This record gives sequence, C-alpha cells and structure tokens, in this order.
Amino acid sequence: MGVPRRGRGQAKNGTPRFSPPREQTRGVLPKTCICQCLPVRTFYGTSTTDDCLAPRAGDLLTNLVKPAGHYQSEYIDTQSCKFSDFSPTAMSVSVNYPEEFAGFAVLDTKDWNKPKYITYKPKAFGDHDIDIEIECCGLCGSDIMTAMGGEGWGEIKLPQVVGHEIIGKVVKVGPKVSLHKVGDRVGLGAQAFGCLSCRRCKEDNEQYCKDSVTTYDGVYPDGYVSQGGYASHVRAHEHFCFAIPDAIKSTEAASLCCAGLTVYSPLKRYIPTSLPNGEKPKVAVLGLGGLGHLAVQIAAALGAEPYVFSRTDAKKEQALQLGAKGFVATGTKGWADEYFDQFDLILNCAISLSGLDLDSFLSILKVQGRFVSVGLPAVEEKYDVSPFTFFSNGSSLCSSNLGSRKEMLDLLELCVKHNIRPWVEEVPISEEGCNTALTRAWKGDVRYRFVFTEFHKAFGTGK
Ligand SMILES: NC(=O)c1ccc[n+]([C@@H]2O[C@H](COP(=O)([O-])OP(=O)(O)OC[C@H]3O[C@@H](n4cnc5c(N)ncnc54)[C@H](OP(=O)(O)O)[C@@H]3O)[C@@H](O)[C@H]2O)c1
Ligand SMILES: [Zn+2]
Ligand SMILES: [Zn+2]
Repeated sequence: MGVPRRGRGQAKNGTPRFSPPREQTRGVLPKTCICQCLPVRTFYGTSTTDDCLAPRAGDLLTNLVKPAGHYQSEYIDTQSCKFSDFSPTAMSVSVNYPEEFAGFAVLDTKDWNKPKYITYKPKAFGDHDIDIEIECCGLCGSDIMTAMGGEGWGEIKLPQVVGHEIIGKVVKVGPKVSLHKVGDRVGLGAQAFGCLSCRRCKEDNEQYCKDSVTTYDGVYPDGYVSQGGYASHVRAHEHFCFAIPDAIKSTEAASLCCAGLTVYSPLKRYIPTSLPNGEKPKVAVLGLGGLGHLAVQIAAALGAEPYVFSRTDAKKEQALQLGAKGFVATGTKGWADEYFDQFDLILNCAISLSGLDLDSFLSILKVQGRFVSVGLPAVEEKYDVSPFTFFSNGSSLCSSNLGSRKEMLDLLELCVKHNIRPWVEEVPISEEGCNTALTRAWKGDVRYRFVFTEFHKAFGTGK
C-alpha cells in the first residue's frame, strides 16, 4: 500500500521553495541550521549550503542521551523558518550508526497512533549481542496495547519505539557470538534477553525467565530501556534471534517471530497427541486476527481440526480458506449448545474480553480440556467466571507467554513444510505509515497482519 508523501522542498501549494538538495552524505548530521533562521541547536537530516532541511516547527528534533538509557527530547520552538515547511516523513535521513539508531517512537500515550521520528543511543554492546539492520517489521496487537499506556497495558517508558516482529540483516556480532554471522538474515520476536542459566532457561522455557527483557519497553540490568523494531536497527542477545529459512520471504517471516511463536507454543504443548478411536483433536481459535489466523494454520498442520470462533460471520469465508473445519459467530444466541463437549483446547487470541462469554466457552470443552489465553487485553479487563463452570467438566483456564528458541526453530521448519504463511498487508514505514497502520489495526481493519517495509529507504540504510 502506498503512503502519499509531500515532496521535499515543496510548499503545501506545490510551489518549489528551492532547488532539491544534493544527494545526502551518509553519517553527516549538521549541528546547526545553516540558513540561521531558526534558534535551534540540533536537527536531523543533512544539508547543502543553500538548503535548510529543518523540520516543521514543533517536530521532535533529537534525543540527548543521559546515562542508563533515559532520553530527553528537543523541539523547535519557533514558527519563523521560511524553509521549515517540511514533513519529516518526506525526508530521507542517514542514521549515524553505530553510535545512534533511528526509529518512530510514541512520545505521548494520547498520541499512541502517531509515532514520531527520533534518534537514540543503543544499549551497551554485550559479548553475545548482535546488531540487526532492519528490513521489515510486523505490527502486533501488543504494540497498540503498549503504546496506549493506561488505556492499554498500563505504564509505558517514553519515548518508546514499539515493534517486535523484526527481520533484518546482521551487521555486527559480539566477540562471543556463535549462532550468527555478519550478513545473515535473522528474525527477532518479543524477547531480546534472558539469563540462560536459570532452570526455566535451561528447560526451554526462557520466555518465563525472571530476568527476561522484552524487545521494547523492557529494562536491562543497567537501566537501559529497550527500543523495538519500527527502527533502523535493533540490538539483541543472539539466543533470541533466529536464522530465517530461504523459503520464507522476509515480510512473511516477520509475524512468525511473535504471532506465530505465541500460538505455536501452546498448540504444540497442549494439543493431545492421541485420542481414543483415532479421533482428531479439536481446537477452538477464539478471535481471527494476527495471532488467530496463524493459529488456524498451525493447529491444522499439527494434526488438529481448527474451528474459528469470531464475533460476527464477516470472516467466515476467509477462516475456511485458512483451513478451519468450522466457523462460529459468537454474536448469535445459543451457539454453545451445539458444541457442548466437543473441544480439547480453546486458544483465546482476542485482544479484548468485552462480550466474551467465558462460561459458554468452558462448556464446549471436553472433560479436563483447557482454555489457554494468549490474548492480553487492557489492564482493567477481567475474566468473569464461576468456579461451578470448571467444576462441571474439570476444565482449566491458563495462559501462555511467547515461546522458546527451540519452539521458534521448530515452527520455522513446520511453516516451510506445510507452507504456512501469514496474510500480510505491507505499509512503507514513515510517520504517516505508522499512523495509518496503527489506526486501522486498532479498528480491526486488516487481513490479517500489517508489515512495515522500505526501511532502507526511510532510514538511509542497506548500503
Ligand atoms: N501471550 C503472548 O505472548 C502474546 C504475544 C503476542 C500478542 N499477544 C496478545 O494477543 C492479542 C491478539 O493480538 P493480535 O496481534 O492477534 O491482535 P489483532 O490482530 O488485533 O486480533 C485481535 C482479534 O481479537 C478479536 N476481538 C475480540 N474482541 C475484540 C474487540 N473488542 N476489539 C477488537 N478485536 C476483538 C478480533 O477477532 P474477531 O473479529 O474474529 O472476533 C480480532 O481480530 C493481543 O492482546 C496481544 O497483545 C499476546
Ligand atoms: Zn507481539
Ligand atoms: Zn533465566
């Protein structure tokens, strides 16, 4: 999908203000406004002698990095620059890598869907770290929940570059890295660090490590706040980065790294391997979104019969195309009676609990069936269920967090073997692209995953 851009050097009425700037020089970031028309100390972009590339008044200019990964932002505070009529989204910038990364950051939770261009210092480079020059990044429901702050998952550390379905090229490896080398294509999901020495880490449950650091909005032991994948680069521990098989395109691999892994882990762990009379296990996928549409494909590949439970029947045809055996619109009355005692597993992939009738869902489970919740709604939403509901069939309610490295590698193999791919809508990364995709994703207006692309063009990388 193309994102309209206003050309550089053009006023809103289309009149050229000056001749187009010459080719930008990589890594050159002038520290003053050359035309002297603005009382600014720093701005981003490069400039030739006769062209002022200062962004519009009020735009974020730069980050001054204080110790321990905290940021302070500077803004232009004047309307006076005669050359200031630029959209930063229209600017092609050069990132001063490796000193700095650049990305589109949430600056204020009330503007959760309007990330702005910033530059920032990466975390201290660890012996096992690798730097990934990002090629594309998926938009996960968790990006929205995080960006919304109090309206979503609660406190967020600002400014925050979200995005944790990352694919890119390794451009730097630490001295102790053994899993990857410079030039490899790798993926990174929602976890960027774990201790790798505790029992959980050693038993392929590193996603539950108490020292786990998430790819964004996490805090490293030195206080550095992690920043995610709507960015030029990302730095992460090698263990949490995965070689991507050649058979999978980058834009399709991206969402496997979070959405795919998140549903694969509980499906693999909880789908019964054998049932009496050779019956196929039945899995109910609740909520057909980014996670749900992968869950349907993965459950089928694991030998189960997936059924989609969606709020309306709008997605019925696509659910069947994805491999669902059946489709249930939960907005209609009495649906639970028809499916009493049918399911071995329910995977809740919904982003909200509003209107979710948990008593009805638990009633469709077989004896000792499981309702596994991977969907994580806004903090104030709670399950409302009576103990008597569990009592009637010995069912249980549990949750699942991401997946392990081992499960990610197994998933990639499964996707190659069974041709499992996310359905993707591509959006070139920019402030406008982020705004459009976040807004549409929040409205459920995507089939079924946005993936941001054209990172090299936006950040002047890939050379
Ligand atoms: N546990 C983990 O480790 C983990 C990892 C990644 C993501 N997550 C969480 O998983 C959830 C789903 O993420 P996603 O990326 O798949 O999101 P998504 O693409 O937006 O899909 C969410 C789906 O939820 C359903 N839904 C139910 N009630 C809704 C409501 N009131 N408003 C909007 N949608 C509603 C919709 O399905 P229907 O239209 O079919 O009803 C929708 O397609 C999010 O809460 C996310 O944070 C958890
Ligand atoms: Zn995610
Ligand atoms: Zn650990």
